Amino acid sequence: MRVIVTKNYEESCQAVANEIITQVQKKSDSKLGLATGGTAEQVYPYLVKAYKEGTVDFSQITSVNLDEYIGMDPESPQSYRQYMADRFFDPAGIDKTKTYVPSGLTKAEDEIALFNEKLYADKMIDLQLLGVGVSGHIGFNEPGEKLTSGVHIEKLDDSTIAANSRFFDSPDDVPKEAITMGIGDIMKAEKIVLIATGENKVPVIKALLTDDEITCKIPATMLKMHRDVTIVIDAELAKAA
Ligand code: GLP
Repeated sequence: MRVIVTKNYEESCQAVANEIITQVQKKSDSKLGLATGGTAEQVYPYLVKAYKEGTVDFSQITSVNLDEYIGMDPESPQSYRQYMADRFFDPAGIDKTKTYVPSGLTKAEDEIALFNEKLYADKMIDLQLLGVGVSGHIGFNEPGEKLTSGVHIEKLDDSTIAANSRFFDSPDDVPKEAITMGIGDIMKAEKIVLIATGENKVPVIKALLTDDEITCKIPATMLKMHRDVTIVIDAELAKAA
């Protein structure tokens, strides 16, 4: 596992963006696995900036997003489809027909079939961007006695509902389930880049970088088995972990 320790969150976002930019410069038709969430949010402006400066061209990429809440309308401002459109696809001139963000409105078995098609019908993901939940989830793969390999519907952990309630009017409005790539899907990416910041991520980063255990109780620890993972954290988090 490669660890990049930056001065602060801003620099982490820049470092993660650089990983993605380098990937696309090397292979213009890269297939990117993309992430939403509060931590990944400030990575996208650096990608848009590079696009506007002419440093990188995203016109040939395809992308697949990690997850979406069940019941979420793709048109809703809280949807991950809208998040991606606003922060990356539209400002970086990306053809949306070449992107896939799962829909939380479609019948589950149909959406799972479509998700698998987007993941596997063509080529594999070249670079997967990840955040990590306070529960230790990656995508929306929550801790438990076992983990699921493929695309599935996941019941959200109480800690995830509490953490993500900041994006909703009240905790009651946070959907209770999500459709997500499974751990096996994430592990098939050629390269994985994970960004984390903040005090509430200390236990999970400690489990990932300091402890020697791989456990379903902290799904992110599965990343120790991947051959090309880069973890980007700031000095404050690195020190605490
Ligand atoms: C969200 C997303 C994850 C994300 C994680 C971290 O709920 N489903 O893909 O990586 O939780 O979120 P945040 O960065 O807001 O802490």
